[in-house]
This record gives sequence, C-alpha cells and structure tokens, in this order.
Amino acid sequence: MVVEDTTTKTHRRSTVSIPTHITGASSAMLDDPKTLEEIASINMLAFSGNNAGDNNTRFAKMQIRSNLSSPDYRYYIAFREKEVVGYIGWKVLGGFAREHPVIELDQIAISEKARGNRIAPRLIEETVQDAVFALTATNPRFQHDSPVHLVVWTYADNDSANKIYDYYFTDGVNGSRNQYGNDEVMKSRTLEAPYSLKKPHE
Ligand SMILES: CC(C)(COP(=O)(O)OP(=O)(O)OC[C@H]1O[C@@H](n2cnc3c(N)ncnc32)[C@H](O)[C@@H]1OP(=O)(O)O)[C@@H](O)C(=O)NCCC(=O)NCCS
Repeated sequence: MVVEDTTTKTHRRSTVSIPTHITGASSAMLDDPKTLEEIASINMLAFSGNNAGDNNTRFAKMQIRSNLSSPDYRYYIAFREKEVVGYIGWKVLGGFAREHPVIELDQIAISEKARGNRIAPRLIEETVQDAVFALTATNPRFQHDSPVHLVVWTYADNDSANKIYDYYFTDGVNGSRNQYGNDEVMKSRTLEAPYSLKKPHE
C-alpha cells in the first residue's frame, strides 16, 4: 500500500510543507541497510528496551526483522524524500480465527526531528484499513462486513501518545496493568466495516 501526500498544512508551531509518503514494509525494503538502520534508530530511541546502551541498533533490528517475518504483524513506514521519519506496527492478538479479530497498534514512533507534524495520526488513519485486511486474510471465520476490535497499550503518562489515542480509540480505557515498573492503560475501539479512522483535519 502506498499513500502519497504532498499537501502543505498549517501546524500549531509553523507552516510546513510535508511531502510524506507512507508505504507497507516488505522484507525487500529492509534489505536496504540505510532504511533498516533508520527504522531501527527510531525504534531504539523511542523504546528503551531495545537500546543496548551503546546506541547500537542491533536489538531493534532483531525485533524489526522478527516482526516483519511474522504473518501476524504488519509494518508501515513514513518517508520524507528517502528518509524514514516514522513507522507503525499492527499485530493480531489472541489468535487468528476469532470472529471479531483483535488487532493491536503495537508500536508507533516518529523521529524526534519530525515530531509535531501529525505524521503519527496520518500513519494510524492511512494504514488501519490495509492492516485489517492483511491481518485477517487467512481467517476463514471473518466476514469483511463484521467489526474488528482495535486496542493499544500505552504508558499512562505518555501525554503525546494518549492525546492521539484519545482521538481514535474512542471506546476509552478498557484495561490497566503495571508492566516492567510502568503504569499502562489499554484503549480500545470497535471498528465497523470499512474500517476507516479518517477524521477531518483542522
Ligand atoms: C507519540 C508520537 C508517536 C506522536 O507523533 P507525532 O507525529 O509527533 O504526533 P503529533 O504530536 O504531531 O500529533 C498529535 C496531535 O495530533 C492531534 N490530532 C490527531 N488527529 C487529529 C485530528 N483529526 N484533528 C486535529 N488534531 C488531531 C492530537 O491531539 C495532537 O495534537 P495537538 O497537540 O496539536 O493537540 C511521537 O511523539 C513519538 O514517536 N514518541 C515516542 C514513541 C512513543 O511514545 N510512541 C507511542 C508508544 S505507545
């Protein structure tokens, strides 16, 4: 899936031109060492569990390769020009054969210099439908006119992520846990066909 957008939009901090291009990730794409390194750097800086402590991206690359090879996972990458500025990963939870699949927004991260331009909301909106179709393709029980359950876990104090999730996961908080010493909340949304989260943008 490829979505092109070359619009100019007014952002709260500045007026910026954002030629951002979002595409589904493939193994071939990650054969390009530059692309893999850029995704891994964003991952490592955003998710400390993958930071080996020496700014080496080896753990991040391992995780990305492993997710990418799995049929229960879909990655999409946001490029500006040829540089990776962010990515999103969607995953099927609780088995493939549920009548109403549960699909988790597993990871989303934007490079530090590209944050604040609403790339994350675009990644969510422009990939969810493709992810639902791809992740349910092998499920014989799933009819494409039935709903899916979307979930996302996030740190309760991650304000920038929570703000975005509150836009899309509008069924609210449906779970909480303390994981690895951090309080996390789960937000959810039952999404009807045709699985669109598109919102009018200000
Ligand atoms: C959290 C993160 C992904 C946000 O990415 P981003 O592209 O910088 O997102 P932005 O801040 O530009 O977008 C958020 C804004 O979009 C708003 N938004 C979303 N959809 C909107 C819509 N349809 N209309 C208006 N505003 C909308 C949100 O409310 C927020 O806006 P505001 O501060 O202007 O009110 C990024 O900070 C990041 O990578 N953080 C580290 C990794 C991380 O924490 N990931 C989440 C783990 S669970």
